[in-house]
Amino acid sequence: MSEKKVRACVVGMGIGKPNGSALAANARCEVVALCDLVTERMEDFARELPGEQKFYTDYKAMCKDPDIDAVFVGTPNQWHVPVALEVVKNDKHVMVTKPLADSERAAKQLVEVAEASGVVNMMSLSTRFSGQCQYLGDLARKGYFGDLYYARARSVRRSGIPAWNLGFIQKGGGAFRDMGVHVLDAVWYLLGMPKPATVTGVCGAKFGPRGRGYWGFREVPQSTYEQYASDDYAGGFIRFENGAGLQVESFWASHQPNELQIELFGDEAGAQFRPLKLFKTQDGVPHDINVDIPRPTKSWDRIAGHFIDCILDSAPCEAPLRHGFQVQQMMEALLKSGETGREIRIA
Ligand SMILES: NC(=O)c1ccc[n+]([C@@H]2O[C@H](COP(=O)([O-])OP(=O)(O)OC[C@H]3O[C@@H](n4cnc5c(N)ncnc54)[C@H](O)[C@@H]3O)[C@@H](O)[C@H]2O)c1
Repeated sequence: MSEKKVRACVVGMGIGKPNGSALAANARCEVVALCDLVTERMEDFARELPGEQKFYTDYKAMCKDPDIDAVFVGTPNQWHVPVALEVVKNDKHVMVTKPLADSERAAKQLVEVAEASGVVNMMSLSTRFSGQCQYLGDLARKGYFGDLYYARARSVRRSGIPAWNLGFIQKGGGAFRDMGVHVLDAVWYLLGMPKPATVTGVCGAKFGPRGRGYWGFREVPQSTYEQYASDDYAGGFIRFENGAGLQVESFWASHQPNELQIELFGDEAGAQFRPLKLFKTQDGVPHDINVDIPRPTKSWDRIAGHFIDCILDSAPCEAPLRHGFQVQQMMEALLKSGETGREIRIA
């Protein structure tokens, strides 16, 4: 195990905070710089961190800093690829929040450049790295479920459209890229990351453009909601090359209760995510097993720890940007199917 420490920079003082705190809490990492358009946000976060941080308001200048080895990118979606490209072009390791990009094309470009550069490139995926998902993933790999031939995944909010940065509701944002992406990534991981073949879906915006359905039933000004240009719901079906099927749904706002759920159908056993349960038949008798994972490590600590292990110990990356690209391909295909009314075949 390397004695060295990773010197990290955190970009974006929203989701950058839990990611940055986890990096700073790891004994093999120090957060040496912050980058945001708003200096006060960096000052606020720096007060929570050990050591001292340089502040950057220009990510290009930050990427030139030789005292930074690795960068977490937590800007609004539209900035993930421009910032991450600059990071890898300057030979720094990169970790990007979800979704990888605001389009399939941008995601592909970043993956190609990142892989060619040879730096560690990783997605920060809080649902995939949760204790529950890791536990189910281990069971799946050990064959507990037998053949996983079907799954359902949904993320539904009653009134949860975020509008604190307009990137969420403008083109390149939307419910599926914001929220659906978590359950899609997690269920795809649990299914063993099969190759998608076809995608069909519906999508639209029933609440956002009318000024309804915003986070916590808050009212937002018309100047905000008239800029609405993304989906607030999407649902569809993905058929994989191995014959498995996946029903996936994502609603930022709806007349339904809040829910985040994944259900796995295997020919030996099944599972649900929340609350975590396993379903099996033993001696002809159905067994419903409640699973209570003892003191789960926080996703953020697991993500930070794995990023550092990849950098310092050359551990094989379990969540490379390529996975973010493959999930983006499925998301964009579903949204395209919704817009065109046609099934989309994934090349
Ligand atoms: N569980 C998760 O993994 C999770 C949760 C929430 C958000 N996110 C992702 O994090 C991203 C940001 O969402 P948020 O809720 O943190 O938003 P936010 O608005 O709270 O924070 C974004 C920050 O980025 C800064 N910023 C914007 N453009 C920048 C640029 N060009 N250079 C440097 N800084 C810039 C803003 O000033 C702001 O402080 C989104 O892509 C979202 O999908 C992930």
